[in-house]
Amino acid sequence: MIYQFELSELEFRLFRDFIHEKFGIYLKDEKISFIQMKLYPRVLSLGLSSFGDYLNLIKYDPDGEKELSRMVSLLTNNETYFFRELPQLKVFRDVLLPQLREKKISRSKKIRVVSAGCSTGEEVYTLAMLTFETGSFFWDWDVRIVGMDISETALEAARRGIYYNSSFRMTEPAYVKKFFSYNSGDYQAKDNIKRMTSFVYGNITDQQTWEGLRDVDVIFCRNVLIYFSEEKVKTAVNNLSQAMRKGGHLLLGHSETLTGISDDFELVRFPETFIYQKKGA
Ligand SMILES: C[S@@+](CC[C@H](N)C(=O)[O-])C[C@H]1O[C@@H](n2cnc3c(N)ncnc32)[C@H](O)[C@@H]1O
Repeated sequence: MIYQFELSELEFRLFRDFIHEKFGIYLKDEKISFIQMKLYPRVLSLGLSSFGDYLNLIKYDPDGEKELSRMVSLLTNNETYFFRELPQLKVFRDVLLPQLREKKISRSKKIRVVSAGCSTGEEVYTLAMLTFETGSFFWDWDVRIVGMDISETALEAARRGIYYNSSFRMTEPAYVKKFFSYNSGDYQAKDNIKRMTSFVYGNITDQQTWEGLRDVDVIFCRNVLIYFSEEKVKTAVNNLSQAMRKGGHLLLGHSETLTGISDDFELVRFPETFIYQKKGA
């Protein structure tokens, strides 16, 4: 591609620091051409003549917030699919859900699960399928699986609940049949799982995001923190910990760890995976 203007090193650093401060994501130096490639068409379509002007629009224009959300949707990695990292999901279905049932059956019958960094919703619907599959939570249970993300584009797709073949690469056909209706090339999530879910805008590193979410039982925050600086991982994990009830569980991506990050959690090992439990139950 021939660029009429380029992203200078100074502009790159300004973008990087701004995104890091706001969302925790740390863009390494080699990302300069990636940012230029991703944002250039947008900057051009707004009639601007430099990346610096684009950043100023985001920071100071009355429509800046809207544009920020658009920019972040262009820059984030939204890779996800149903039944990703199966061993943890089996722990959720076979260990955590039975424990929650036992704990809550004589009390509130209320279960709160959050997928922080839910992208286009596959993780949330996977958790809903697994919950449904247990057959243990009928109409008198209040089970809610909340997906949260900073990308409005991803959240819109999640709310629509329409998926294509690539999202089902790890899904057994029986699940597709039971939980999706096929409609000329795409698959619509059925109401049996949709009604357990909701999707909200939220930034893991922002304390305000978590104000309405307290006493959460289980948080999945997988394949999100790998993009953060260590400082922001600490901020994020502190927020997750505040939102969670004592004894609640935290599931991270397989390459993510709390070692050196937080003392609020204990490691719980299973034959094929590990998860974290908040201390103090
Ligand atoms: C690679 S996807 C992971 C999706 C899913 N958790 C999974 O493991 O399949 C990472 C998602 O995290 C979101 N994200 C990045 N920073 C975030 C933040 N500060 N707050 C909330 N979501 C964030 C991105 O927008 C993206 O959709």
